[in-house]
Amino acid sequence: MIAHTPDGANPAWYDDLIVRPGVAGIATIANLAVTLDGRVAIDGRSSGIGSRLDRHLMFRLRAWADCVLVGAKTWRTEPVATPLPAELIPGRRSRGQADQPRFAIAAGRTAIDVGSAARVTLSERPLVFATRPSGQPDAADWAEVIPIERRHSLAAIVRHLSTRCGVGRLLVEGGPHLLTSALRADLVDELFLTIGPRLIGGSQLTLTAGARLNRPCDLISVYAHDSELFCRYRVRRPSP
Ligand SMILES: NC(=O)c1ccc[n+]([C@@H]2O[C@H](COP(=O)([O-])OP(=O)(O)OC[C@H]3O[C@@H](n4cnc5c(N)ncnc54)[C@H](OP(=O)(O)O)[C@@H]3O)[C@@H](O)[C@H]2O)c1
Repeated sequence: MIAHTPDGANPAWYDDLIVRPGVAGIATIANLAVTLDGRVAIDGRSSGIGSRLDRHLMFRLRAWADCVLVGAKTWRTEPVATPLPAELIPGRRSRGQADQPRFAIAAGRTAIDVGSAARVTLSERPLVFATRPSGQPDAADWAEVIPIERRHSLAAIVRHLSTRCGVGRLLVEGGPHLLTSALRADLVDELFLTIGPRLIGGSQLTLTAGARLNRPCDLISVYAHDSELFCRYRVRRPSP
């Protein structure tokens, strides 16, 4: 279960991932990186937590996904919409997937600022799920704005992605508030967690935020490289 990789290698970990589908027939995974003290950001950004290998694996997980879902605050702070490297596209084509995963933003009540348009480097317009579409005046120019009926209705988002967009594989990339919503709604089947070998202290967000949670997780695999850990967990559903 524990594997090490030689320095500089780009291993094929997470190739041919098989994830058991959960809610709405969608297989949902989450992928985030934390410091040793559990923080998801350094000075408000995630860069500096994971290594180049972590980024390589992030792209592999994106290559698995039909859709990448992020929270509005992550979309505003991170350059999320980066196209996949060319070498990952043939694998997608062989599985009948589009060349690039679609990006979707859970915006809730939070407005996406106009600067976000500059971040869109993909051919397909991102989806913005908003409880107040009128509060997203800028997004209509560069995204498809989908009204959702009530705040934090992740089930409605997943249903839309499944029935209207043909999404069968969903990757949630955070941040902590969105991840916590997704965990509370029992949408996350597996959690991919990178643990970067760094302690940063301070008051940055930790992996989960907001509401209380109690979700035991079972370790599926862990890889180590240069003191960095790449863990894969199955998230247990609460007993009925
Ligand atoms: N290390 C990592 O891997 C990593 C990954 C991603 C982000 N980050 C860091 O995390 C920070 C941002 O995270 P955050 O927790 O503040 O914000 P976030 O989770 O990115 O975004 C919160 C947004 O998600 C919306 N939302 C949450 N649950 C929802 C639901 N069920 N339905 C619809 N919308 C929903 C919220 O809506 P409302 O406005 O209605 O509440 C809010 O607009 C940044 O510092 C970023 O750098 C780190």
